[in-house]
Amino acid sequence: MIEGQSKARFFSNKMGFILSTAGSAIGLANIWKFPYVVGEFGGGGFILLYFFFLLMIGFPAFFSEILIGKITQKRPDGAFRELSKSKIWEKIGSGTMWTGFLVSSFYSVVAGWILGYLYEALSGNLLHIQTIPTAHGHYLSLMEQPFWGLFFHFLFALVCLWFLLGGIRKGIEKCNKICMPIFFVVLSLLLLWSFTLPTAKETANFFFQCNFSKITPQAVIIALGHAFFTLSVGQGTLVTYGSYLKPHSKILSSASVVVLTDTIVSLTSAFCILSIVSFGNQNIQFGPGLIFETLPTIFSKVTGGYALSCGFFFLVFIAALTSQVSALEPLIAHITEKFSLSRKTSAALVVITSFLLGIPSSLSQSTLSSLTFFGNTFFDIMNFTTTSILVPLGGLSSVLLLGWKFGVHKAFEHLTQEEIHYLQRRSIIKKYFLISIAYIAPIFIVFVFAHAIGIL
Ligand code: PHE
Repeated sequence: MIEGQSKARFFSNKMGFILSTAGSAIGLANIWKFPYVVGEFGGGGFILLYFFFLLMIGFPAFFSEILIGKITQKRPDGAFRELSKSKIWEKIGSGTMWTGFLVSSFYSVVAGWILGYLYEALSGNLLHIQTIPTAHGHYLSLMEQPFWGLFFHFLFALVCLWFLLGGIRKGIEKCNKICMPIFFVVLSLLLLWSFTLPTAKETANFFFQCNFSKITPQAVIIALGHAFFTLSVGQGTLVTYGSYLKPHSKILSSASVVVLTDTIVSLTSAFCILSIVSFGNQNIQFGPGLIFETLPTIFSKVTGGYALSCGFFFLVFIAALTSQVSALEPLIAHITEKFSLSRKTSAALVVITSFLLGIPSSLSQSTLSSLTFFGNTFFDIMNFTTTSILVPLGGLSSVLLLGWKFGVHKAFEHLTQEEIHYLQRRSIIKKYFLISIAYIAPIFIVFVFAHAIGIL
């Protein structure tokens, strides 16, 4: 069957799939969000909680989506239709692709800021920043210029387009095969450097400290939400990447490697950033403050601060690039097939539309800052609607489709013979998947969702 199909519509090998999926998973959530939530919610206790959710909802949903793609060899809309034999499910599958597209519009804005800060780092501007008020002033002076944000948002879109034009092997896979090794080298250098800091030991102790008094209901929700956002669940990406696997590919080991790598990257980033921040005697700040304000004040104080600042922003840029490419791919693949367009035309159409949709998010910090809805800017609304509502719903639809509509037992018949034998020998692993996909993951996702929309 495969011989008759163009080879270019598959990843070239297991490594291509692993690197591309890891590239999608490892993103701003790992390097930006995870460190400050670990700092905020008391270290080791929060990490344990996060591991629990990762195992109970993140991994099962992640595995389900890859399996849905591999079984059907179709993009989310076709895949959902084929497994459910229903038009409604097809619409739900389509919806997940649009979620990825909506996420891409503001993800690109944030990635543009990262690119802008990379430029600041390269030009040495960050080395003059000594205090938080100066850092804050610098941050505001950049954000208040509408064209600064728009320019880097545009530049980032162009870099993504360049890779996306090339298709699966020559585009996505190539992007990840170049970027991910560089990412791991830069992260390892950052880790080695962090070990030399006097605060490294104290940070390591913090990771093993289980201060459960800091585990508030908010911490529980954050750990839960983060467990599937970081794995790119619920946005059509994993179903699409799964459909680029040849039907005889093994996915159990590849999926486990990706989840493990994503977790190691989150822990490493948290270790490095928290060591650096406590070395500078700074308190952890939320959101943009951490990367754009706290870290620059420290770069100016340490030896090798120039290389460190450039390396750090380059690292975050790569993480954002490989994630953004994966968020845009489902819709590109869909419109290429549906309207029989060339890959290049559909990539250009989707990237340009995502860029245009990102403009109001970009201007939310400047020209459109007063355009608010219940105190929220356009950027806030996009962020909240997608990450807190549409992503959990997308993840929920995948586990329900596999767990209830199609059936996990039936789905597992599509694993390779070797994987089926493995699961027969290790029945506990099989039970884990059956229970987590059909029961635990849906219940927890409903819980996050209910909280996000204020029911709980
Ligand atoms: N997983 C990415 C991150 O951790 C975000 C992402 C979600 C990317 C969905 C692509 C698709 O930042």
